[in-house]
Amino acid sequence: MKIIAYGIRNDEMPYLKEWEQKNPEVEVKVETKLLDSSTVEEANGFDGVVAYQQKPYTKEILDKLGSFNIKYLSLRNVGVDNVDADAAKANGITVTNVPAYSPNAIAELAITEIMRLLRNTKRFEDKQRSGDLRWAPEIGQELNSKTVGVFGTGRIGHVLVDICRGFGAKVIAYDPFRNPELEKQGIYVDTPDDLYKQADIISLHAPAVKENEHMVNEKTLSEMKDGSYIINAARGSLIDTDALIKALDSGKLAGAALDTYESEVGVFNVNFDSFDDISDDRLKNLMSRDNVLITPHIAFYTETAVRNMVTLSLDANRDLINTGKSDKIVKL
Ligand code: COI
Repeated sequence: MKIIAYGIRNDEMPYLKEWEQKNPEVEVKVETKLLDSSTVEEANGFDGVVAYQQKPYTKEILDKLGSFNIKYLSLRNVGVDNVDADAAKANGITVTNVPAYSPNAIAELAITEIMRLLRNTKRFEDKQRSGDLRWAPEIGQELNSKTVGVFGTGRIGHVLVDICRGFGAKVIAYDPFRNPELEKQGIYVDTPDDLYKQADIISLHAPAVKENEHMVNEKTLSEMKDGSYIINAARGSLIDTDALIKALDSGKLAGAALDTYESEVGVFNVNFDSFDDISDDRLKNLMSRDNVLITPHIAFYTETAVRNMVTLSLDANRDLINTGKSDKIVKL
């Protein structure tokens, strides 16, 4: 059995090697480049493909995989919003993902950023660089006196609910598909608007489906409390960046933490050598603000998560090739 694994980074290699030792019957070809139109030809002759999301998996790529008779594409990540579902179906390609490589990894970044915003740590760090070690005026706020609104209570949102409660915060949530356990605890509000109106901090944990595109926009921002905060460690497309910038300018929002950004492809996880060399002006605008925290899609990036992404995606690809079955098949 032969699997080609695309976009393998150095930090993934030890886990891949470990997996290979446990699965000597599988030949894994490591390709450090991402799966795209310039690398797809290399998949010819393999039984399955393992890749992770960064670039779109277009009709062109999926047609090519289909023409090589490749039927199994296993993603090392959760999101499948970059897969052309129609093209995958047309080529009979079964797609798996790793839905729970570490919900804690994402939720822990969200709480890190919430705390950093409430305690103004970026401002203190900026001041320190010029030798200013004074307290004022960066007086902080306490999470235990806040209402956190969790938008989306899947695995990640659920962990964040528990973490925020541990801090003593009031937690409310919105999800069209309610979690029965959380429902019993009475945390759900009926509409997104209720969440926007009541929360001091809104953390997004919703998928990048069509109906969620720019769910944070001029209108929804206007419904939020004055001085509220937004955290997005989900998908960039959930936030209308121009509307966000306006809300930061007006002071409607007291701050934001973005681990995802709608124009992040080709920018995040790239070394531009200097700030000036970053060509995206909107991103630079956000990065320059002392009340905006930008991280380049790192929420997933922990040792636990990366190990699980590598091993569980390879398991899924191997199982599909062997049996046509896997518990990680995505309904596209
Ligand atoms: C996901 O798992 O969907 C992520 O956002 C992680 C990233 C490597 C694409």
